[in-house]
Amino acid sequence: MADLILRRCRLHRQTELVDIAITGKHISAIAANLADTAPQEIDCRGNLVTPPFVEPHIHLDSVLSAGQPRFNASGTLFEGIQIWGERKTSLTHEDVQQRALEALKLMGSHGVLYVRTHVDVTEPRLIALDALLELSEKVRDWTTLQVVAFPQDGIYAREENAGLLEEALKRGAHVVGGIPHYELTREDGVQSIHHIFDLAERFDRLIDVHCDEVDDEQSRFVEVIIAEAVKRGGGERVAASHTTAFGSYNDSYAYKLIGFARRTNINFIANPLINITLQGRMDTYPKRRGLTRIKELWENGINVSLGQDCIYDPWYIFGTGSMIGVAHMTVHLAQMTGLSEIDACFDMITDNGARSLNLTAYGLQAGNPANIVILDVPSAFHALRYQVMPRYVISQGRIIVENVPAKTQLSVD
Ligand code: FE2
Repeated sequence: MADLILRRCRLHRQTELVDIAITGKHISAIAANLADTAPQEIDCRGNLVTPPFVEPHIHLDSVLSAGQPRFNASGTLFEGIQIWGERKTSLTHEDVQQRALEALKLMGSHGVLYVRTHVDVTEPRLIALDALLELSEKVRDWTTLQVVAFPQDGIYAREENAGLLEEALKRGAHVVGGIPHYELTREDGVQSIHHIFDLAERFDRLIDVHCDEVDDEQSRFVEVIIAEAVKRGGGERVAASHTTAFGSYNDSYAYKLIGFARRTNINFIANPLINITLQGRMDTYPKRRGLTRIKELWENGINVSLGQDCIYDPWYIFGTGSMIGVAHMTVHLAQMTGLSEIDACFDMITDNGARSLNLTAYGLQAGNPANIVILDVPSAFHALRYQVMPRYVISQGRIIVENVPAKTQLSVD
C-alpha cells in the first residue's frame, strides 16, 4: 500500500490523466486509474502536476539585502556594485545563512526545490561560501542547493583570487565559476576559461561561468567556452550564464556561434528580469534589450534555462521567488508568445533547468524521489497566464507547502 496517492493528474503536454502513488520518499507508480490505495489521497481534478521548478542561477549571498546600507537610486550595475562593496564588509555566517534560508523557503513556497547559487569567493575569509555550503547540508531533506565558487572580481584581478577559488573547491563548492569579461584584458579572460576547465577536471566539478554579461559586441568569451567544450568534451557539465552580449552580436557571428554550440551539449542560463533592467543603460535610442538570444538558442535545440539572479538586493529591487513569474516575463521579453513557445518557456523552468544542473532522478517517474508540484490550473499556459502559486508542494514524499486559494467576492450587477 502506498502512503499518498495523487488522483487525476495532468502531466505537461499529456492528455490522458494519471494517478501517482508515493511510497516513503519515492514515486512508486504512475498509471491511469491505479488500483493502489493509500491513507491519504489528493484529487488533482485534471490539473497540472509537474516536477518542481528549478532555479539555476541566483546569488544567495546578497539576496534580501536591498536597502542595506541604502537603496540603489540609479538602478545601475555600478551603483549596485558600490552598495554591495559597503554591505560586504559586515557579512557574517549567520547573516548570510539567515537571508539565504529565507529565500530558499520563499522559493519552496513557489514550488522551487532545486537551486544553484553563485557565491563570491574573492572575499578573503570565504564567509559566505562556508555559510552556504553548510546550509546546503542543513536543507537537504527538503531542497537541493548547489554552490558555485564565483570569483566576482576576476581570477587575475588580485594575486590571491586564484588561490581563493581553489580553496573554495577544496572546501566543497560543487561548481567552478568565472567572469572572463570582467578580467583586466581579453587575454586574461581567455586564460581564465582555460584555468576554470583545468580546475573542473582536477576537482571533478561542474562549470558555470558568468559570461559576456555586457552590451559590448566585442565581448566574445562564449566562443572560448564552446571551443573548450568541443575540444575537451563534457559540454553537458558546462553552463554559460547571462551571455547578454549575444544580443548585440551581428547575426552572421551569432549564427556561426550557435552552430558551434550545437556541436556540444553546453547549457545556456538566461536571467531576463535582471538583464532587461541592467543592460542597455549606456544606449540612447534605439535602446538594446540586453538579453541573450533565448528564442534562437531554443529554436536551434540548445538547452536554455532561466534564473532569477537576484531577489531584493542592490541590483534588483523586485523578485518573488517564483520561477513561473520569470517564465511569464520571458514570454514577453523573448517574444515567445506562440502556444508551443509558451510551453517551451515552462520547460525552461523545469526540465531544462534540471539538465543545466546535471540533476539525476529528476522528473515524474516511478523510482524517482517524490518531488512534485500540484497546480490549480490545467496547463502550463494557464499557469503562466495566471501566474499561480502551487496548490501543494511535495518534497521527498512529504507535503511541505499547501496554499489555500484566495476567494474574491465581486458584487456588481
Ligand atoms: Fe549572476
